[in-house]
Amino acid sequence: MAIVRFGVSLEKDLLEALDNYADKKGFPNRSQAIRHLVSENTVREKWDQSQEVAGAITIVYDHHKRNILNTLTDIQHDYHDMILSNLHFHIDHHNCMEIIAVKGKAGILRELADKIISTKGIVHGALTMTQ
Ligand code: NI
Repeated sequence: MAIVRFGVSLEKDLLEALDNYADKKGFPNRSQAIRHLVSENTVREKWDQSQEVAGAITIVYDHHKRNILNTLTDIQHDYHDMILSNLHFHIDHHNCMEIIAVKGKAGILRELADKIISTKGIVHGALTMTQ
């Protein structure tokens, strides 16, 4: 892999922290220390994506909007093994609120939530996750 050089600006105390870290871990220079920190962080992020979590997708939509109910049902059937429960509240004449309880790998829950929230006619949508 090609090595690229770049300049980094850091606050003095952060630089000291980096040097202390490199010293403690025995890295021969700052580049090695930064390389290690970046790759470790990337791995952790990937690991987070595959972690089993529980969560809730909350959406608000106008049920008169064409096809929205069919679309939401289709998406949820595609991910049926991750959906624990579905609460539906009729807020007023037009608006419905749904809370969809979900469980599974964080990355796939994010994918499911994105599909639901981006459905045409959704007024508000959010995903919350917990370990
Ligand atoms: Ni409703």
